[in-house]
Amino acid sequence: MHKFVIEGGNKLKGEIEISGAKNASLALIPATLLTKGETVLKNTPNLRDITTMLQLMKALGAKTVLKNNSLLVDTRKIKKYEAPYEHVKKMRASIYVLGPLLARYNHAKVSLPGGCAWGPRPVNLHIEGLKKLGAEIDFEEGYIVAKTKKLTGGLINFDVSSVGATGNILMAAVLAKGETKIQNAAIEPEITSLAEFLIKMGAKIEGIGTNQLLIQGVDELKACKFETIPDRIEAGTFLIAATMTKGKIKIKNCIPSHLDILLYKLKETGCKVKTGKNWVEVTGTEKIKPVDITTAIYPGFPTDLQAQWIALMSIAIGSSQIAETIYYDRFKHVPELNRLGANITVTENIAVIKGVTNLKGAKVMSTDLRASASLILAGLVAEGKTEILRAYHIDRGYENIEKKLQKVGANIKRKYYQEF
Ligand code: UD1
Repeated sequence: MHKFVIEGGNKLKGEIEISGAKNASLALIPATLLTKGETVLKNTPNLRDITTMLQLMKALGAKTVLKNNSLLVDTRKIKKYEAPYEHVKKMRASIYVLGPLLARYNHAKVSLPGGCAWGPRPVNLHIEGLKKLGAEIDFEEGYIVAKTKKLTGGLINFDVSSVGATGNILMAAVLAKGETKIQNAAIEPEITSLAEFLIKMGAKIEGIGTNQLLIQGVDELKACKFETIPDRIEAGTFLIAATMTKGKIKIKNCIPSHLDILLYKLKETGCKVKTGKNWVEVTGTEKIKPVDITTAIYPGFPTDLQAQWIALMSIAIGSSQIAETIYYDRFKHVPELNRLGANITVTENIAVIKGVTNLKGAKVMSTDLRASASLILAGLVAEGKTEILRAYHIDRGYENIEKKLQKVGANIKRKYYQEF
């Protein structure tokens, strides 16, 4: 296994290129199942989660080649319609193959995802939505077994705005017969990007970027070339790193509007923020002011940056409060941050953070992707040496994180170790 070893205290300065968005890619890749052809997805990040998705695509019969962040997916010889437990247990986003397989091949079998590191994560909205499009769905031995003669359009009104369920239903509806309306659809940039990809393939979708999508089903879609949007969570993590280390970092190849709420909150901490067409520059402040946040669906503060924000607030001058409203239990990073000297208490879904003058290096354990990112951030400012075990969590969602951080002056190394 790998771990990260960080000697804290360096101010980060320089420029960082942002990779393609993991969560956009994880929807675009299964969407290629909707066509029989060769699709090219540019700016695909080379990440562990992408490898998992490509392994699943190969198990279904697709050919895939990822080279220099350009991904070729050939779906001309799909021969299986099943996402086995081995894949789904590694990554919940495997459920994204359900809608496309059902729409294109009229049946699909996908293992039910279990809970995850931060509690239960149901898929009821995916199932109910597909049923509204005429799918018959049973549960057999831990699998969702879905079939249909032909999906037909319908009205779907989600109780909760869900990124995954919106993506799955959207992918199913583009090949369904007739009109589908999705109300309370997710408007996260990754869903907008998926809709734009589907349109490029020949789908008919109106209302993109709003929470009401109107889809007219078409008979077939064609393979095309498409570019993945930059990763707003990766960008946000590095901007928080600049603020925490009181340095100055220019993030290149990003979409500043996707970061609006974060930039607004960063300004409130006292740091300087400049933006251009596709870049953002943050200059840290010596005295970080405490700033409360509440996580929310887009364009609210992303839950995927909550852990990193808590790391930042742990060295603010004063107390702050973070409310997690998307995943109530998503606080696995808190005990580990406290091991580094932070002063954080959690009651139900609220974290109260009393800023401390210094964090202190220690051995800590990664538990999930964004929790691990918050530990790296803390390690960058902690006195002495911080070791972050189980680096594979970070590799799920950050491409070459240690190289990018080294380039702006961080003392971070990846090392091999054996876990007993
Ligand atoms: C996606 C992101 C994840 C991010 C999350 C919220 C991907 C691959 N993952 O996850 O990084 O943290 O959005 O922005 O894009 N819910 C239900 N029933 C369902 C589905 C969801 O009740 O069938 C609830 C969830 O428990 C949660 C909320 O809806 O409280 C939002 O979850 P959702 O948007 O579906 O998250 P994911 O798509 O799984």
